[in-house]
Amino acid sequence: MNSTQQLTVSALAWNGNCLKVLDQRQLPEHIIYDEYTDAKRVAEAIRSMRVRGAPAIGIAAAYAVVLSAKQHYAQTNSAWQKQIAEDIELLAQSRPTAVNLFWALDLMQKAIAQQTGNPISALQTLAEKIHADDIAANHTMGELGADIIGNTKGIMTHCNAGALATGGYGTALGVIRSVYQRGSTKIYAGETRPWLQGARLTVWELAQDAIPATLIADSAAAWLMASGAIEWIVVGADRIAANGDVANKIGTYSLAVLARQHGVKMMVVAPTSTLDGSIANGAEIKIEQRLQSELLPSCYNVENALVDAWNPVFDVTPAHLISAIVTERGVVLNPDKDGVRSLL
Ligand code: MRU
Repeated sequence: MNSTQQLTVSALAWNGNCLKVLDQRQLPEHIIYDEYTDAKRVAEAIRSMRVRGAPAIGIAAAYAVVLSAKQHYAQTNSAWQKQIAEDIELLAQSRPTAVNLFWALDLMQKAIAQQTGNPISALQTLAEKIHADDIAANHTMGELGADIIGNTKGIMTHCNAGALATGGYGTALGVIRSVYQRGSTKIYAGETRPWLQGARLTVWELAQDAIPATLIADSAAAWLMASGAIEWIVVGADRIAANGDVANKIGTYSLAVLARQHGVKMMVVAPTSTLDGSIANGAEIKIEQRLQSELLPSCYNVENALVDAWNPVFDVTPAHLISAIVTERGVVLNPDKDGVRSLL
């Protein structure tokens, strides 16, 4: 598949009236698209991870604002701006870590502020642009990342930073797709406990494009690196601070530490919508804690159980453990404050 060909997998589809969302909780067993015409339901789809992955969350939220405008705008309804603002607030509360959500809502909010009359057409044009720009950024990053990696015997990825997590093509998986198209490489995916984005989503998504992949238990990563099988770890990001610290799926930090120990290079691939220049470093990133029930065997999911669970779903990798940050505006090697500033 070359980068201009249509992808087999799409997390989101917009038809002008409704947003179709592939329910990622049901993959890979069931491929079910649900139709959304109500922003509040889209907020719930984000919260419950039917749609997930930082850029896809931002795009879904942008379309949700269009749905909100369609629902609330009427010449006779003087409260429409307030009603849309309430939906935006609900969407902003759906998940805390991925900055793309707040970035997209901010753009939509600014567009609403510029409208005195019917806002629907302007909002729809903007949401479609956010979506199209994300796909274009992914293709650009795919090529830039592949230029850096060149020929390699093996790459490992974590979580799912593919078409399922974005408008299409993917960030980390976009680079991996581009590397694979230029010459074969062995691709390893960590299963990504506890939600299994690697096992349920990444290897499935690659298989849809006939790209072979090898699944490993998260706990096999050190041994994989020690075996010499991989030269790069390539991951996405949920938020990148001004100094280059990166929040991404829990387990990314462990991989970065292991990578340094084994001489493996660490690449983070993210559109500039994932950069958060307003925070100095990763300590300021809010890390989402999800329900204990996502981790605990059901016998412990009872009141007064002696066993509980700690379930942070992201971690922060310090910039000094990262070899390259790839964005659609360019690449920063050995990221630091000056490098990230050059991308903003
Ligand atoms: O909890 P998720 O599945 O939304 O987490 C997704 C990730 O951590 C991805 O690696 C990140 O959003 C980048 S997606 C291009």
